[in-house]
Amino acid sequence: MTQRKKVAVLISGRGSNMLSLISAAQDPAFPAEIALVVSNNPDAGGLERAAGFGIETAVLDHRNYKGNREAFERDMDALLRSRGIELIALAGFMRLLTPFLVNAWKNRMINIHPALLPSFKGLHTHERALETGVRLHGATVHFVSAEMDDGPIIIQGAVPVLDSDTPESLGARVLTVEHKIYPRALALVASGAASVSGHKVVLSREDADLAGQTLLAP
Ligand code: GRF
Repeated sequence: MTQRKKVAVLISGRGSNMLSLISAAQDPAFPAEIALVVSNNPDAGGLERAAGFGIETAVLDHRNYKGNREAFERDMDALLRSRGIELIALAGFMRLLTPFLVNAWKNRMINIHPALLPSFKGLHTHERALETGVRLHGATVHFVSAEMDDGPIIIQGAVPVLDSDTPESLGARVLTVEHKIYPRALALVASGAASVSGHKVVLSREDADLAGQTLLAP
């Protein structure tokens, strides 16, 4: 088997998506290993969960950088490089990135967003989906580009929106789809099956069906 890609997962909170990546990577056939988990928040619950799997964790507290985002990112970049990291997976990492980190990791950094992009970029996606009255909502894994929530789309999963939904119930339904599509997207990227061409992701033939499927969850 070819070498598994070394992945760092960046988190700020509970880390349920991080956990889905860790679980998938337990399979030796998975093309990536989660080598490092970094949080900007020392209280992120995901840190303990990752450590429980024997994964190295680190905290880079953004509050120590007094608004100097680039200095924060330079330290992050140095940390990732010192560990031989090849791919970054953002999983609920609540920091806006500057062009420094985005460019340094161009086409090697992916993110999960809880909406069907390009709809509902930014925060409070479930509230906004309900206010708008869309009948389908979901999640997107995409490469990170300079514009927030705007990079090439790797994979999406959709769920129905029910009349009885609250932001919480809809968010929970979307989260189940997030946990399915993020490992799939990471596998596509780590194996080299997904690559960026212009503003789109191109998939190798045998993987196109897999990613092209719209996942409809109950
Ligand atoms: C997820 O909904 C993810 O899509 C968004 O932030 C949330 C993180 O949740 N970017 P978790 O920490 O992975 O549980």
